[in-house]
Amino acid sequence: MSLASFRDQHRKRIDDHLARQLDALPLIAPRLKQAMSHGLLLGGKRVRPFLVYAVGEMLGVAAEVLDGPAAAVECIHAYSLIHDDLPAMDDDDLRRGQPTVHKAFDEATAILAGDALQTLAFEILASHAMPTDLLGNRLRMVSELARASGYAGMCGGQALDMDGEHKQLGLSQLETIHRHKTGALIICAVTLGALCRPDIDESTLAALQEYAAAIGLAFQVQDDILDIVSDTATLGKRQGADLAHEKSTYPALIGLDGARELTRELHQRALTALQGLPYNTDILEAFADYIIERTH
Ligand code: IPE
Ligand code: IPE
Ligand code: MG
Ligand code: MG
Ligand code: MG
Repeated sequence: MSLASFRDQHRKRIDDHLARQLDALPLIAPRLKQAMSHGLLLGGKRVRPFLVYAVGEMLGVAAEVLDGPAAAVECIHAYSLIHDDLPAMDDDDLRRGQPTVHKAFDEATAILAGDALQTLAFEILASHAMPTDLLGNRLRMVSELARASGYAGMCGGQALDMDGEHKQLGLSQLETIHRHKTGALIICAVTLGALCRPDIDESTLAALQEYAAAIGLAFQVQDDILDIVSDTATLGKRQGADLAHEKSTYPALIGLDGARELTRELHQRALTALQGLPYNTDILEAFADYIIERTH
């Protein structure tokens, strides 16, 4: 299957699944639910769910089993974007071609929508129907998602990102930021996909995580590049926002050419990590190409 048809198929799958998760919530706070729906369902590339499906299906796991982990990681991602856009953080008005949640609703609702999506992620991961031989791995998945989202992952990276505004950071500091704020959740997506196979061995898991670490960093370097070279309409978010906030980014530190070269090196590292795996890695290889070639 080509990457394009894999992505088309799984986009519909994850979008339907996420919509069903929100539909199933009781209507006790309709405005909050609308805000969650705005942040979760209106567009998005669904990179993290695709990775859950791509890895899981490569290992022979049924898509029905992967729906829960894929939805959980996307709920965390949507929450992170809602909070990232708040005035206290990147103060952005546009996301996925729509007003950001705090613009379409209000700040308190945006904070709560993020909070509620975060906890929904864990509710889904803990309760999604799974074969009984996966129950041991499910607890590990919860632990992996918590770690990747929190202090030692995304939140920690976001804190360092905010601290790094108006400062000239060193390359290793910037790498730490990017690996935490973005890389951790991408590694987690791949890990969850792999843990859906009950007998996953640690060396396969380690190789897949090495792949994910490389594409995870490349993904954020490309995000930094696109903030400069793309435009607001294509991105669906404000172009030039990093410069306006004097953010530490790869192009700011090593120039556009240096940043592009780094994405190529990371791409190579990702492909190398897949070598020797006794599975058909075509989709993951094509996904690595996409990560550094994407235009939005
Ligand atoms: C944006 O993530 C924030 C980063 C971690 C770079 P995505 O580029 O995956 O955003 P959506 O989900 O496609 O909108
Ligand atoms: C955000 O990074 C990473 C998150 C954890 C949300 P950015 O701040 O660069 O993401 P965009 O450019 O606003 O999508
Ligand atoms: Mg940010
Ligand atoms: Mg931002
Ligand atoms: Mg960005």
